[in-house]
Amino acid sequence: MIEDILKYSDEIKDRIGEKRFLHTLRVKDTAIELAKIYSVDEDKAAVAGLLHDCAKIRDVNLLKEEAQENGLKVEGDFEKAPQIIHSYLGSLFAEKLYNVHDEDILNAIKYHTTGRENMSSLEKIIFLADSIEPMRNFDGVIKLRELSYKDLDEAMYFSLNSTIKMLAEKNIYIVPETLYARNFYREMVN
Ligand SMILES: [Fe+2]
Ligand SMILES: [Fe+2]
Repeated sequence: MIEDILKYSDEIKDRIGEKRFLHTLRVKDTAIELAKIYSVDEDKAAVAGLLHDCAKIRDVNLLKEEAQENGLKVEGDFEKAPQIIHSYLGSLFAEKLYNVHDEDILNAIKYHTTGRENMSSLEKIIFLADSIEPMRNFDGVIKLRELSYKDLDEAMYFSLNSTIKMLAEKNIYIVPETLYARNFYREMVN
């Protein structure tokens, strides 16, 4: 399946730019590594990793236009947290443009920015691979890498806490899914 998607590499690169595309290749490889550890289908991990940012159009106005055209109303949380639009739109693109019909892959793309309660292993793998791919460099990335290779739920809890702290400090709106997810994984690890 990944070979079918790699055929679209140039199209995706044109849409999201070279730098972002190279990030998606690293997320794909990291997702495959995690899939091996947690006995998740490696091909699905590769496809979801490669496509997770396939709608990350750099121009925000253009992104919003594309979202509207694809039936995503830019209001409510999409208005208050536009950084999450590309995940939902990416899931639609994966289905419409790249013929991905696997629900788990589509959800992994859709929730890779916000997280949500009770995520599948594949969803957690894509969420975490996005944060720990080799070029990522932020406070706590070493700890998050360590946790990701040890326990997906512990890693999710650590990652969601860091994200929420960062968003709060920057005075950025936090979507409910992320808060619910954080509380869910708090229960899972305690
Ligand atoms: Fe993303
Ligand atoms: Fe990403």
